[in-house]
Amino acid sequence: MKGLVYVETYGCQMNVSDSELMLGRLAADGYVEADSPADADVILLNTCAIRDHAEQRVLGRLGELKGLMKATAVVGVTGCMAQRMGPALLERARHVSLVIGPDGYRALPALLERARAGERAIETSFDLEEHYEDFTPRRFDRVKAWIPVQRGCDYRCTYCIVPMTRGAERSRQLPDVVREVEGVVAEGISEVVLLGQTVNSYHDGVAGFADLLRAVGQVPGVRRVRFTSPHPNDFSDEVVAAMAEVPTVCEHVHLPMQSGSTRVLRRMLRRYTREGYLECVQRLRDAIPGLCLTTDVIVGFPGETGEDFEETLSAVEAVGFDDAFTFKFSPREGTPATRMPESDTVPDEVATERLERLIALVRAGARARNLGLLGQRREVLVERTARRGDLLQARTRDFKTVLVPGDESLIGKYLHVELTGTTGSTFTGAVIPERKALPVA
Ligand code: 5AD
Ligand code: SF4
Repeated sequence: MKGLVYVETYGCQMNVSDSELMLGRLAADGYVEADSPADADVILLNTCAIRDHAEQRVLGRLGELKGLMKATAVVGVTGCMAQRMGPALLERARHVSLVIGPDGYRALPALLERARAGERAIETSFDLEEHYEDFTPRRFDRVKAWIPVQRGCDYRCTYCIVPMTRGAERSRQLPDVVREVEGVVAEGISEVVLLGQTVNSYHDGVAGFADLLRAVGQVPGVRRVRFTSPHPNDFSDEVVAAMAEVPTVCEHVHLPMQSGSTRVLRRMLRRYTREGYLECVQRLRDAIPGLCLTTDVIVGFPGETGEDFEETLSAVEAVGFDDAFTFKFSPREGTPATRMPESDTVPDEVATERLERLIALVRAGARARNLGLLGQRREVLVERTARRGDLLQARTRDFKTVLVPGDESLIGKYLHVELTGTTGSTFTGAVIPERKALPVA
């Protein structure tokens, strides 16, 4: 054994998937996973740079680790913040000896060896071929599998740091993705989540996202296919048809809207209008009965007026989202939004007030929708034990969380439940016993 390694993950599912790849690679190299940073010989923070808050959390954690870790432990920062800050991270935190961006994990074992010998190193070059195809991920989740199908991003939304931290868009070859999915099914996992920054723009040179959905959806043993996050402009008719026709593709789309004002969307360089977004929603709903929609919304983008914000509120109402992640705009160094005139800046107290109003509207909408589902029946997949005592946390195909009674042996199993209660956001469910076939007389 080379040592104990502890990985802490921040940010999106792509980062969770990257952490699984890193741990898999290090396990192949003789490292064993540690339960806590205090025991570890190697501590890796796999970081996010999307908002300033995400980075502040990591800086705080790095400070905390100083008092926690063994004197001989090596600390590495990986992921988007590592890519963004590079050498500045080594200067800011003297106990950090490795800084590795999202395309540099192949070098991890070699760099670790050098770091453990006392060197400090940075690897932040982009590699447009890199998919870590030969890595075997060490999966954290036994019920669903994250399957990265695309890395990087070619959109240039003016608020977003991701094109700078994850480089240009590239897709894995479809046969490689299918092989990975067959592998997870063989391990007993029946739900797969396809990951990409704009996942429905997937194209491997031969096959597009519709082909990918059909191929993955038909792998024997796969019961649920999800994907995140799509871009509204990449929902071609072929993709929508594939979603509707492949029975394993779940009735849920996380469809980032960002704003309901065409003027703001244009300044965000989202490449669609309010009407275009609403039309995309309509096409999806027409094709997929019972579709559940969730979204991301940013408030306080430079130049957002009260009127623009009202348009966001009315779009949220018009769609009737099942849930939304809501954010205050956070300026990211080097992005086009930071070059907009100073006078466009939305004061923090205005943005805070808008965020509160938006959250209240989203909650009220979700609550009304969820109350309307009471009494309905759903198939759920049991994911884990719930935080609340003796209950299990399960998930419907349309992405509702349902708490059901039962013990750990049900994790990974499918049940039929009736939705009996809701807090407004999550449900409680009663298990409907499977009907036994009557004995033949
Ligand atoms: N400020 C606030 N929110 C942001 N997001 C991306 N960049 C920023 C930023 N600079 C949000 C978007 C995106 C989600 C992952 O994070 O809503 O969809
Ligand atoms: Fe954060 Fe975006 Fe990087 Fe994911 S891709 S870790 S959300 S900055």
